[in-house]
Amino acid sequence: MGEGMEGMSVGRNKHRWGVVLAMLLVATVVGLWAGTPSSAAEEPTREPSVVGGTAVPDGKYPFVVALLDKRYGSTASRQQFCGASLIDRDTVLTAAHCVKGNVASNLRVTVGRTYLDSTQGQVRNILRINIHPSFNASTLANDVAVLKLSSAVSGIVPIRLPATTANSFEKPGRSLTVAGWGNTIAQPAFGSVGSSYPQRMREAQVPVVSDATADDIYRNYVPSLMVAAGKTGKDTCQGDSGGPMFARVSTSTGVVYYQVGITSFGTGCGAPGYPGVYAEVNNPNLRNFIVYWAGR
Ligand code: ARG
Repeated sequence: MGEGMEGMSVGRNKHRWGVVLAMLLVATVVGLWAGTPSSAAEEPTREPSVVGGTAVPDGKYPFVVALLDKRYGSTASRQQFCGASLIDRDTVLTAAHCVKGNVASNLRVTVGRTYLDSTQGQVRNILRINIHPSFNASTLANDVAVLKLSSAVSGIVPIRLPATTANSFEKPGRSLTVAGWGNTIAQPAFGSVGSSYPQRMREAQVPVVSDATADDIYRNYVPSLMVAAGKTGKDTCQGDSGGPMFARVSTSTGVVYYQVGITSFGTGCGAPGYPGVYAEVNNPNLRNFIVYWAGR
């Protein structure tokens, strides 16, 4: 673990213990969950979030999945600890660090749900966790896992995986979207401040940062396996891990979405000089692993 890894913690902090202990990471201690509105009608106004983002209207990104651990309480908002994405009718993609050390029977997902403590979308159990064989829990290289659902969801269009040759999505400066239910409070590079976890999914636009820059910032950065994105005040944060970073593409038949990255790590959240780091979905080795498990 290097300097770049300090201040980094994994998962929604209100129940980060399991994953963090499993990964032997230095976690930052932040405040506990403050309270849960019981219905969408009580949805409170919230500060800019994701960090520096905006609230997502119901149904806007149905392929964004909430990853829940049933041991963490009785409501979806208490159980949510990571994000994921629907890549096939019975398959979701997430970060390996979200599920390493856990077992499928503890997990479930909501697909097509925007507001956590609602009945929106479809809920599925997990049959099987597939972690990339080269995942390194210390460096977070190959931070990819594929989860098989207990049964297919219906009527939800999965997000697309870019071809291995589709590198224009990763061009520095290109704006991509991140979404999730992670902490909305920006965190400094060293130390931490309070946390706030939204009921409603949030999104932010983040600019791709060059591999050369990211390589200088994070000593565990691997250009071929990772994409960095974000700027001061615009970033993913704890609880967003495993969720997608994606590009919106307009075609003659309508809008489609391509998943460029999987939320993986960062120092602080939205801290100056520290963009977020995402597993690079179209790296051939990662993409082959994903497609293999999506197909069976
Ligand atoms: N590792 C965090 C999680 O498990 C996500 C980190 C993203 N951090 C960032 N600064 N972009 O939820």
